[in-house]
Amino acid sequence: MFKDELINRTKELISFVETPQEIANLMVELISKPRNCVLLDTGCGRGIFLNNLIENGFNNIEGIELNKEMYDFCKSTYDDVTIYNKDFLIWNPSKKYDLIIGNPPYAHFNSLPPEIQEEVFNITKTRESDIYYAFIIKSIELLKENGELIYIVPYGFFYNTHAKTVRKKILKNGYIKTVIDLDETRLFHDEHPETIIFKFLKVKHKKPAKIEILRVKNRNARPPEIFQKAFDSLTRKEENKLFIYHQKPQFTDYEDVWSTFPQIAIPEYMKLKNIAYIGVGLVSGFDLAFRINDDEGENFNEEERKLVFKFVKASNCKGFWVDGSVKYVLTDERMQGEHEISKKWPNIYKRIIPHKEKMSNRYLPNNKKWFHWQALRNKTTMEKYMKFPKIFVPTLDRSEKNRFSLSTESVYPSGDVLCIIPLKIEPFFLLGYLNSNFFREYYLSYGARRGHRIAFTQRILSNIKIPSFSREIMNEIKRITQEILDAKDHSKRKLIDKEIMIAFEKKSFEKTGLFKFI
Ligand SMILES: C[S@@+](CC[C@H](N)C(=O)[O-])C[C@H]1O[C@@H](n2cnc3c(N)ncnc32)[C@H](O)[C@@H]1O
Repeated sequence: MFKDELINRTKELISFVETPQEIANLMVELISKPRNCVLLDTGCGRGIFLNNLIENGFNNIEGIELNKEMYDFCKSTYDDVTIYNKDFLIWNPSKKYDLIIGNPPYAHFNSLPPEIQEEVFNITKTRESDIYYAFIIKSIELLKENGELIYIVPYGFFYNTHAKTVRKKILKNGYIKTVIDLDETRLFHDEHPETIIFKFLKVKHKKPAKIEILRVKNRNARPPEIFQKAFDSLTRKEENKLFIYHQKPQFTDYEDVWSTFPQIAIPEYMKLKNIAYIGVGLVSGFDLAFRINDDEGENFNEEERKLVFKFVKASNCKGFWVDGSVKYVLTDERMQGEHEISKKWPNIYKRIIPHKEKMSNRYLPNNKKWFHWQALRNKTTMEKYMKFPKIFVPTLDRSEKNRFSLSTESVYPSGDVLCIIPLKIEPFFLLGYLNSNFFREYYLSYGARRGHRIAFTQRILSNIKIPSFSREIMNEIKRITQEILDAKDHSKRKLIDKEIMIAFEKKSFEKTGLFKFI
């Protein structure tokens, strides 16, 4: 009876999410410490891990839980376990642990009570963190040398800029031995964050060269199957129906985005930034005022028409080709005062004045006035290359295939796309290559995903390696791409991957291939 009541009450508590039995079991299977090791379950909740550890013969178990009712529940249920009713983030135990295991709370800084915010800030040194970042850092501190940390947490600390302190702590104190990437499988009741199980070892020296990684293939898998198949894949060290298994070099830089995708080696290449210009889009910061319909511009005077420009948005990127564009009135430093605008550009003034209050409240850099665009990043460079073919790509995309899209028109990139201008590379070849599945996998190995979406950033795209295939292969990719564009038919994109596979199988690379091709 008491247990049922507790289940109902716990739903109201912040950050209480119970781990499925099979997942706790899988994590307990990752332990390499002996049964009598001194171990701690942080935020032990109703004792899912405690129970599992007892059943697996561990006999030196401790748990810490902030919530009094859950603490009482564990205390009365698990006789041989030492439970502390304390706040882990400010707890100072007199000993260190061989093993720390658990499912710590996850909650963004802003949603935490003020006193917990301060504790998290003291540990992570940022107000953009999540409480679980603090749990990881504090746990590493409480481990003995050669101690193990096994946690199930969201994947965000692998890529989030504000989780640098966590990645730094990990690299400074040891290494990650195993990662089980469970993606967005439905593990918990209400929320389905991208989750990983990771095992960290605290060692000063002797880091192994590789990390062992499992990545789930099917997001609909349920915990019993996850347990079976992950256990099987780990034991055999091989891929199976549910998990990709691979080993990749240790993460070495906390500034990097860490990824669970396999790394792909490209023998001969040029970095994209050395053969193309890569720019972010222009941001109006208030589309409602600046975006205009086709017919709206018809009654504009001559001066006003000079301010109307075509933009490519993510929705115009169809993959390979761009479909249409949208028109914007672009207000820049040429406009300095409201009076001048009302005289010289009266229709535009009429259009923006109703939004004055809201536009004044947007974030604007110091030198900008309320009627200006928020960020005209790269505008001058874009103008310099206006006559060049341009490849646009949505910065965040849910599609299953890449949508790099070519335009030969005089168009600007809007804030939701990146723009690549091929300078020293054949544009059709580049377009075809960027839209291949091969490139998608390669790009994802840099960790650029957010849940179901792929994220293209200027920084990562600049540093990607464009293979210097043989001239024949490049010509084939160029030809297939042209056919796709002519017929506006995506079905041939598979042929590009075929060419890439041939190149890798036959090692058809030429050191100077890209240059010869230009
Ligand atoms: C995600 S739940 C996991 C519960 C349990 N370990 C499980 O896996 O089912 C996180 C737990 O951490 C507890 N918790 C939150 N903040 C805490 C803190 N500062 N110190 C100790 N426990 C905390 C919550 O009350 C909650 O029970």
